[in-house]
Amino acid sequence: MRHLIDIMDLSVNEIDEMIAVAKDIIEKPADYCEKCKGRKLATLFFEPSTRTRLSFEAAMYELGGNVLGFSEAQSSSAAKGESVADTIRTVGAYADIIAMRHPKEGAPVVASVKSTVPVINAGDGGHNHPTQTLTDLLTISREKGRLNNMTVGLCGDLKFGRTVHSLITAMSRYENVKFVLISPEELKIPEYLKQEVLIKKGIDFVETRDLESAMPQLDILYMTRVQRERFFNEQDYLRLKDSYILTPDKLDNAKADLAILHPLPRVNEISVAVDDDPRARYFEQVRNGKFIRMALILKLLEEAN
Ligand code: NCD
Repeated sequence: MRHLIDIMDLSVNEIDEMIAVAKDIIEKPADYCEKCKGRKLATLFFEPSTRTRLSFEAAMYELGGNVLGFSEAQSSSAAKGESVADTIRTVGAYADIIAMRHPKEGAPVVASVKSTVPVINAGDGGHNHPTQTLTDLLTISREKGRLNNMTVGLCGDLKFGRTVHSLITAMSRYENVKFVLISPEELKIPEYLKQEVLIKKGIDFVETRDLESAMPQLDILYMTRVQRERFFNEQDYLRLKDSYILTPDKLDNAKADLAILHPLPRVNEISVAVDDDPRARYFEQVRNGKFIRMALILKLLEEAN
């Protein structure tokens, strides 16, 4: 049984193929509208979500399939003390594929071991978020026409931001990608990522606090929210939450073809005045999330047959 728990579960070839399928869906949606007829996707969200859950559901509907699930732990038997393993076994009796978000790192792996149907990690705590990464890769590929030879700036909460962890891991497999990691000292990327991905693979990266001086070299600027729910203490969050606020003047010395991305939700880190800049691509990124999830559902269901 094939699952998607970590972005490394997919080869570069498979990712490139899925991006091609997503682009084909964008061009010819009618060719795909019955591909999942009679199939069911379950969305099990033990943590809040807008885009990830709704884009999974929209994706399945656009493939002609159906959707069931819950959007908060409180409305499932988790509130009665049921284990993730038992919930997954149960849902496998009703659905053909499962997308699951959970506050505990590693919960989707535990689920996948017990599951009779494919499990997709839709975000596990501060760890990974592979389907956001597929969304980001499709967006970068559509914006730039390539996934190699570029400088990617990631800015904000690089410690707890799971989308950042999966994106760095994924992009470090493409040639000549350089990373500029912009964060306060307390929110630097986890040591395991630095050691096991960046240093081990000899990837070119720098860590800095200074967004403005990094700006001119960036092809992609990936902004992130400070992850309030992962902090142990509210005081630290309040001190760090407004570390970076992207405003139009800060883009004065940016490249003309910079693409500004953000997994969303945004809190304060991008001023709404930036939305009108043609380089702001985060709402286009939202749209891409549905198409790449369609490609992913198709792939995993095909392989499960
Ligand atoms: C992200 C997440 O849930 O990790 N959101 C998303 O899925 N698009 C980013 C965030 O919550 O900051």
